[in-house]
Amino acid sequence: MRIILLGGPGAGKGTQGEFICSDLQIPKIATGDMLRSAVQAGTELGQAAKKVMDSGELVSDDIILSLVKERVNESDCKQGYLLDGFPRTVPQAKGLVEIGIKIDIIVEIIVDHEEIVKRMSGRWVHPQSGRSYHTVYNPPKKHSLDDLTGEPLVQREDDKENTVRKRLSVYEEQTRPLVDWFQNYVSEHEEVKFKTVDGVGNVTEIRKKISEIIS
Ligand code: AP5
Repeated sequence: MRIILLGGPGAGKGTQGEFICSDLQIPKIATGDMLRSAVQAGTELGQAAKKVMDSGELVSDDIILSLVKERVNESDCKQGYLLDGFPRTVPQAKGLVEIGIKIDIIVEIIVDHEEIVKRMSGRWVHPQSGRSYHTVYNPPKKHSLDDLTGEPLVQREDDKENTVRKRLSVYEEQTRPLVDWFQNYVSEHEEVKFKTVDGVGNVTEIRKKISEIIS
C-alpha cells in the first residue's frame, strides 16, 4: 500500500500516519521529520533548512525530491510506504510522477485554520521519531515523555503562533493547488484513489474513518 497523507500544518498527518503505518506495517516517510533530523545532526542541508523552516517557508523542491527519491529506494519501502508532508507543491507532485514513485491512494485530512492554531500551541513531539502529542487532545501516558521510548518530548520552533499563521498562508498558496492537481491526476489514473476525511473530532474516531477508507 502506497499512501499520501495530504493536509495543512497540524491537520493530524503525523498522528494518523503513525497509526496507519503501525496497522499496515509500512514505513512513514515524513519530509519534515527528515529535515529536522538533518537540523539536529548539523549537516549542511540541516543548517540551510533550519532558517527556511523557522520562517514557515518551504524548502526547495529539488532538495526535497532528492531526499524522498533516496528514501523510497531503501529496502523497507518494498511493501509500501506512507508519504507525510510530501508532495507539498505541484512541482513536487510532478517530480514524484517523473521519478516513478508509485501511489495507490491520497487521503486529504481537512481541518479549519483556527482549529489548527489552537492545536499547535499544545503540541509536544518526540524529536527522534516524529511522534506527536497534545497536552489536552492526545496526551502522552506520562507527562512530557514519549509513550514508546520514555524519552523527553519537546516543542517545535515553528509552532509559535506567528509562524503557524505563516505556514497556513504558505499552505494556501503552494499546497492547496495540489488538491485540484491530484483530482485531475486520479481522473486520468483509475487505479489511484483520492479521498477526503474530516480531521476535526476525536483522534480514535478519525483513525477509524481513515482505516475504513484505506481498507
Ligand atoms: P512538517 O513537519 O511536514 O509540518 P506540517 O505539514 O506543517 O505538519 P505538522 O507536522 O506541523 O502537522 P501534522 O499534520 O503532522 O499534525 P500532527 O499530527 O502533529 O514540515 C515542517 C516544515 O518543514 C515546513 O514548514 C517546511 O519548511 C519543511 N518541509 C517539510 N516538508 C516539505 C516539503 N515537502 N517541501 C518543502 N518544505 C518542506 O497534529 C498537530 C497537533 O494536533 C498535535 O499536537 C496532535 O496531538 C494534535 N491532534 C492531532 N489530531 C487531533 C485531533 N483530531 N483533535 C485534536 N488534536 C489533534
